Amino acid sequence: MTRPNPTIALYPGSFDPITRGHEDIVRRGLRVADRIIVAVAHTSTQSKRGLFSVDERVELISEVFDDEDRIEAMGFRGLLVDFAAAQGAHLVLRGLRAVSDFEYELQMAQMNQELNADIETLFLVPEVSNSFISSSLVREVAALGGDVSSFVSPSVLERLLAKLDG
Ligand code: COA
Repeated sequence: MTRPNPTIALYPGSFDPITRGHEDIVRRGLRVADRIIVAVAHTSTQSKRGLFSVDERVELISEVFDDEDRIEAMGFRGLLVDFAAAQGAHLVLRGLRAVSDFEYELQMAQMNQELNADIETLFLVPEVSNSFISSSLVREVAALGGDVSSFVSPSVLERLLAKLDG
C-alpha cells in the first residue's frame, strides 16, 4: 500500500460546538496529514439534539482555524466513507480521550474498514487537560451559567453565549 501524496485526512464528528479538545486533535493531525477536512456530519451515529445548525458549526470551525490554510471545514450527508472517497481522503482521524471511548470508536473504525478498505482510521491522543471535555458538557455548563471560556475558543464562546441568551 502506498502513501497518497498529498495525504488528506478527515476529522469527522458532530462538533456542536467545536471545543479546545477537538482543536487539539486537529492540530496534532497536521503532523500526519498534509490537509485536514473537519467534517461535520448531518447524520451522527449517536442520535443527538443539536444546538447549532450544521452550517453554523462549519462556520465556527472555519473561524477557529482561520490561521491555518491546511485545515478546512465542510458539512456532509450520508456515509463517512463515501464522503472521504469523494474528497480523496484516505485517513480518518479520531481522538481517544479515555478507555470509555474505545469500544465505540473501534466498532466505527471496523465498520468503516468493512465499507471501504482503502480508508484507514488513525487514533490520536488529546492533551490530558482536554481529556474530559465534550460538546454536550460544554453546552450544559454554559447553559447553567458556568464558565466554559477555557474549553472553547473566544469566537465559539461568544456565539455560544449569544445562542443561549436568545
Ligand atoms: N475533545 C473534546 N470532545 C471530544 C473529543 C475531543 N478530542 N473527541 C470526541 N469528543 C466528544 C464530542 O464533543 C462528542 O461529545 P457529545 O456527545 O457531548 O456531543 C463526543 O465526544 C463524540 O462525538 P463525535 O466525536 O462528534 O462523534 P459522534 O459520535 O457525534 O459522531 C461520526 C461520529 C460523525 C464520525 C459518525 O456518526 C459518522 O461517521 N456519521 C456519518 C454516518 C456514517 O458513516 N455512519 C456509519 C459510521 S460506522
